[in-house]
Amino acid sequence: MRLIRSIPELRVLLKTMKGRGERVGLVPTMGYLHSGHEALIRQCRSRCDYVVVSVFINPLQFGPNEDFHRYPHDLDRDQTLCLEHGVEIMFMPEPKEMYSTGFSTFVDPGSMGNVLCGSYRQGHFRGVTTVVAKLLNTIQPDLAFFGQKDLQQSAIIRRMVWDLNIPVELVVIPTVRDDDGLALSSRNSFLSPEERCRALCISKALFEAESAFRGGVRLASEIINSAKNLLTELDELQYCELVDALTLDSIEGQIGRLVGLCVAGKIGNTRLIDNVLLSEADDPTRQLSLVGIPE
Ligand code: PAF
Repeated sequence: MRLIRSIPELRVLLKTMKGRGERVGLVPTMGYLHSGHEALIRQCRSRCDYVVVSVFINPLQFGPNEDFHRYPHDLDRDQTLCLEHGVEIMFMPEPKEMYSTGFSTFVDPGSMGNVLCGSYRQGHFRGVTTVVAKLLNTIQPDLAFFGQKDLQQSAIIRRMVWDLNIPVELVVIPTVRDDDGLALSSRNSFLSPEERCRALCISKALFEAESAFRGGVRLASEIINSAKNLLTELDELQYCELVDALTLDSIEGQIGRLVGLCVAGKIGNTRLIDNVLLSEADDPTRQLSLVGIPE
């Protein structure tokens, strides 16, 4: 496995791989890898000849009062895990490699970046689209892998890739959960045992909504109100909303084709997000992927 910190070095290596006709896959991460990332890496490994994992805590996607400076990291552990999964390249740039002096060009995700998490984290998605566009331009992977847990992020990146004709296929894979249902997140490491216990109300509310949907409930307000009634363990409920999973348009009235029930809230100082897809399709997460290169 090669550990690479410089963009030119990465480019030279990838040029050789691509010259040999290798299929390159990218798993973009902010490190502190967990089983959710492992699932992404496994998928990437199974579909690509060459696996690149980027580890970069992107300062641009954190607001001034957010947890950038205390975001968890453990590069040694990340390296061991990537080695175990046969990753070929770990790309770990320093901030100045990604944002050189005078950096002033950003990718604006438009209105999709202002709803849900965007209304609590101003500028967050602009930071995400900018860094993901930079990673996609730098690495030029054939496929890039994202988790359903960040449903809004995957919808915004999908839109960006389409709008900017970025030649990459996006693969979204289902959320990985602990046995008790808690969605895996690097931020779970901030939770005390008592807080972790309370955090379970999120997945419980989402699973209840899923089973109500399966049982035939289609009225958005009924789904949302029942979920909210189960979210009382949160110290702050930021949102519990039904949205179209591809456009993020808010759903009122009857639930349509591919809808996400999305929740964000705080337990103590830790902000958690999670979602479920409500759909009659067999494998709804698959529909979040962008199959085929945008024309
Ligand atoms: O999902 C994440 O970990 C980050 O938002 C990403 C996509 C790596 C961009 O920094």
